[in-house]
Amino acid sequence: MNYRHAYHAGNFADAMKHALLVALLNTLKRKPAGFCVLDTHAGLGTYDLSSEEAQRTGEWQTGIGQLLTTTAPALTPYLALMRDHGAPAHYPGSPAITAALLRPQDRLIACELHPEDVQSLRRLFRNRAEVAVHHRDGYEAIRALLPPRDHKRGLILIDPPFEQPDEFARTIQAATLAKSRFPTAIIAIWYPIKHRTPVRAFHDGIATSGLRNVIAAELTLRPPLDPTRLNGCGLLIVSPPYGFEQDATTILAAMSPHFGPDAEATLIRIVEE
Ligand SMILES: C[S@@+](CC[C@H](N)C(=O)[O-])C[C@H]1O[C@@H](n2cnc3c(N)ncnc32)[C@H](O)[C@@H]1O
Repeated sequence: MNYRHAYHAGNFADAMKHALLVALLNTLKRKPAGFCVLDTHAGLGTYDLSSEEAQRTGEWQTGIGQLLTTTAPALTPYLALMRDHGAPAHYPGSPAITAALLRPQDRLIACELHPEDVQSLRRLFRNRAEVAVHHRDGYEAIRALLPPRDHKRGLILIDPPFEQPDEFARTIQAATLAKSRFPTAIIAIWYPIKHRTPVRAFHDGIATSGLRNVIAAELTLRPPLDPTRLNGCGLLIVSPPYGFEQDATTILAAMSPHFGPDAEATLIRIVEE
């Protein structure tokens, strides 16, 4: 396990993923019944953007660093949460964002395999009874922990480091398994866009997986031609809530101009309902 998210926290890909995560969670909160979030690859939970890792890449400066002064209403829920967390000094990761939005009836299960990162997560949530931190493989947690015992609604966030060549295929298997065990859940899979070819194969794999009602929100900084660079990223969503396609389109349209003149946002339907 070489990947450390501390080098990348708050970059354009985090901003995109987390603004859409906030929108998904706020949709779940429209109904009073509680929900359960399973964050399969949770990371550290919170990131010090003055750390050596963050300073070395400076990635946050072209991500959240470009957004904090914007006033676009579509970005307000995400940016308000970032400011509450102390951005730009500190940046919240996906479990901290989810934990900040939980109501008493909601739960978060956060899985992290890295032995040091999971200790940070445990410290962060030591006083939060509604958050459970697991030092375990997030893919295995789908089989072991779903469906949740006390919740009929939920969100599964699958956000692996894509260090392994089979990671796209693993996320498809994971989503299929998650859907069979927890049919009402929303599933969100983050993925990198370096070159179009693996992304096309991923979309095709999803389209033939048997999953229904799937969309993908994508944001590219430049045409994805150089496979050695992170040229963009996507969030694939299985069973998006009603109205989310419009919300995601508005959020990405408000965000992408801050990421350079060639940035483009698109929303694609991969499988019909
Ligand atoms: C992209 S980062 C997660 C970022 C986080 N979801 C966020 O948005 O703030 C991926 C994380 O997955 C962890 N990881 C890698 N393989 C894993 C596995 N099989 N199960 C659980 N965590 C894993 C890595 O240590 C890393 O912290």
